[in-house]
Amino acid sequence: MSTDLNIPNQNTCSHPTAINGENPISNEQEHVHNKLNGKVNDIVATLQKGKGWRGPEIFLHKGFWLPQMLIKSLLTIHEYFHPKPNDIFLAAFMKCGTTWLRTLMFATANRHLYKISDHPLHHTGPHSVFPSLDVQIFLDQYSVSKFDNLPSPRLFATHFAHDLLPTSMTSSSSTCKFVYVCRDPKDALISKWHFMSKIRSKELTPISFNEAYELFCNGVSEYGPFWEHVLGYWKASQESPEKILFLKYEDMKKEPSVELKKLAEFMGVPFTTEEEEGGVVEEIVKLCSFENLSNFEVNKDGVQMFGEHVAVENRNFFRKGKVGDWENYLTEEMRDRIDSITETRLKDSGLALGLTQRA
Ligand code: A3P
Repeated sequence: MSTDLNIPNQNTCSHPTAINGENPISNEQEHVHNKLNGKVNDIVATLQKGKGWRGPEIFLHKGFWLPQMLIKSLLTIHEYFHPKPNDIFLAAFMKCGTTWLRTLMFATANRHLYKISDHPLHHTGPHSVFPSLDVQIFLDQYSVSKFDNLPSPRLFATHFAHDLLPTSMTSSSSTCKFVYVCRDPKDALISKWHFMSKIRSKELTPISFNEAYELFCNGVSEYGPFWEHVLGYWKASQESPEKILFLKYEDMKKEPSVELKKLAEFMGVPFTTEEEEGGVVEEIVKLCSFENLSNFEVNKDGVQMFGEHVAVENRNFFRKGKVGDWENYLTEEMRDRIDSITETRLKDSGLALGLTQRA
């Protein structure tokens, strides 16, 4: 499979694609597209610029760093996306376990439809099982209505910070739910550096680890700062636990069955006693395990298209799948700096994350 991926420059907002390539873009749609692009250009002109990890610049929008394309997505979500009462959004900072959670949520919600031995995950990339709101809405903002045809509960993934999303999704009166997964920021940094390096344009000089480390610590990172992202969802989960399930990658690695049962309960599809006794929980855990998924052909050789032009090889979503890989990259000084930022930022929040156990 070719590794010559065609990822558009995120600093320009490309033209929308016709739905399934069949419907020509109407004058009205063209008008909306131009209006949105105009708004985005006006917004971006006022924002502080930063260095994007995969090349294009990123902009500090309402406290979070985003490429221009994602500012347009956000605007589109605010203007065109209509949440339904039982929608469930999987949210996470980049590289904190979205791929894993996607498969677990999909397999759990649809467990009555598919046999494990012949499950769609055997031949479907994890990012195809339900839409990424951030990307899909940007590429197809005129076909938001096609989301209406998704089976209920509709599942979506997003990396946007809680504070950036519309209140129709986040307010306590909305009945949408969020599953948030977070991770030790040191592991998120390592994972993100590897991932962004792989999808970075080959025409650019690679981003060095030290450079990525500095940017991450300074909060200059797509969808970042990491800590504010986590805190937004954490605080909301404390205020409305029935609306936001807050999970940690490390807990999931340690006790996947326990965490999966929590997830199913939260999604409104708890495992029955018969299912538990019949081993269904363990079957889903095994199906979605790193070892299993990463060995499927589709995840070794397949490519995930995010619309017409954005392609990422599925193998890039699976690296090591381990807790604590940061030990292979960070010096003691680097580790202490991230731990100390984490301690300071999360102070008094009641959340402990990734602090290194010292002897
Ligand atoms: P590493 O780079 O540390 O290996 P995301 O899915 O949010 O992009 O996060 C990617 C991280 O999750 C990567 O971490 C990847 O290897 C890991 N991952 C992917 N699938 C997984 C699975 N089924 N179980 C555990 N970890 C998984």
